[in-house]
Amino acid sequence: MPKGQLPVKLADSSLLKESAALRALDLVCDGMWLGLGSGSTAARFVEALGVKVAAGLKVLCVPSSEATRAQAQALGIPLSTLDETPHLHLTVDGADEIDDQLRLIKGGGGALLREKIVATASDQMVVIADDSKLVKTLGRFPLPVEVVRFGFAATRRMVEAMAAQAGCEGEITQRLGKDGVPFLTDQGNFILDCAFGQIQEPEVLAFALKRVPGVVEHGLFLGVADLAIVATAGGVQLLQRTLSSE
Ligand code: A5P
Repeated sequence: MPKGQLPVKLADSSLLKESAALRALDLVCDGMWLGLGSGSTAARFVEALGVKVAAGLKVLCVPSSEATRAQAQALGIPLSTLDETPHLHLTVDGADEIDDQLRLIKGGGGALLREKIVATASDQMVVIADDSKLVKTLGRFPLPVEVVRFGFAATRRMVEAMAAQAGCEGEITQRLGKDGVPFLTDQGNFILDCAFGQIQEPEVLAFALKRVPGVVEHGLFLGVADLAIVATAGGVQLLQRTLSSE
């Protein structure tokens, strides 16, 4: 392959992420308070937002991870925190999986806790993704669960037991960083990646996981996303959450 040329599939997915991000930018108006998501698709949005800000757009943004904070800061995007700006108009973020009720799995990058807090503080959450993220049933992507470090082994056992009661079984592994040491979230917690396969009743599983004291948050975003902007080879599709999917 000639130097500097991307494999076709990678280039495609990159273009699709870009299209979804640019379409989301149309929803941003002057004066908005925005939540900024994390991950490679959200990074496209932040990049494009930076260009608009440089051209004079006035927004105030709360990032959902330290990585996004660094990116936005470098682009000169005005930043705030949820303590200073506890109510946001719109959050734009990526997802690892999206079902047809706009239920999501998030946390592939480990930012699920802050992402959920930021999205929930927003009037509207818009998900941007390429169509590889659409699934019929959630669970192909291992569900990230953020747990505190204290009592880790006991918490892991309890996550396993509670998930089984909710009809979900599969390998639960502790996420490791590139260096092979346990991955730490921006909050200093561990992540369990739960390969449950198809999650037939996400609400039941979400409720069960939240009953485990050491669980800080899980990557099921249920009833959080309002709109998904999904880029396909044939164009960009908008999927709206309907009241019947509440
Ligand atoms: C970060 O923790 C995640 O929730 C991301 O939003 C999700 O993993 C999607 O990331 P990509 O856009 O990189 O696929």
